[in-house]
Amino acid sequence: MSDERYLTFALGKGRLANKTLEKLEMVGITCEEMKDKDSRKLIFVNEELKLRFFLAKGPDVPTYVEYGAADIGVVGRDTILEENRKLYEVLDLGFGKCRMCVCGPESARDLLEHHEMIRVASKYPRIARDYFENKKHQTIDIVKLNGSIELAPIVGLSEVIVDIVETGSTLRENGLVVLEEICPLSARMVVNQVSMQMESKRIQDIIERLRGVC
Ligand code: PRP
Repeated sequence: MSDERYLTFALGKGRLANKTLEKLEMVGITCEEMKDKDSRKLIFVNEELKLRFFLAKGPDVPTYVEYGAADIGVVGRDTILEENRKLYEVLDLGFGKCRMCVCGPESARDLLEHHEMIRVASKYPRIARDYFENKKHQTIDIVKLNGSIELAPIVGLSEVIVDIVETGSTLRENGLVVLEEICPLSARMVVNQVSMQMESKRIQDIIERLRGVC
């Protein structure tokens, strides 16, 4: 065991990372060091299992994994689709379930049905473009925003938005509705393509154990 190299996990910061650590703990993969909330450390090690963990901004997780700085990543499917990196998506972890949707005021439904030229605001321009141009064959103008996307149709920046809907309360409280559903989302485990071959046995073992608790 001592000559094994470290396997490195990149976890998307926040709720996703906490849920991931719970799942890992259920299959005997723990990292005590990471539980110290006062710690300023960025990288945490389990010497015994030869594992390393670090927290990154969600959209950066696929980047760390593609370049091999992390062997394994856990991130939302929204981020995987948007970042479009070269990696293997190996497991649906079953939490963080939500939907990517086209939303807006009820009055925008007609514009979608008649394939009007509309402006779409989103934090996910690639997903929005792919949906409208490749699946619906509708030409649109995309405006990239970084958060509070629901504001855009309210203040007249765009006709509709492409965004994540979980409970639907943000939409309800702002007088907006789901107009079309693009795809379901949840947390996924991703693996570097070279690591998948070089560390196949260890990584497959982790996947199989996690599959048992997902
Ligand atoms: C996300 C998403 C919606 C909201 C959906 O935003 O962009 O705004 O959650 O959740 P709901 O259906 O349960 O209301 P987030 O809280 O991540 O913040 P953001 O607006 O900065 O992206």
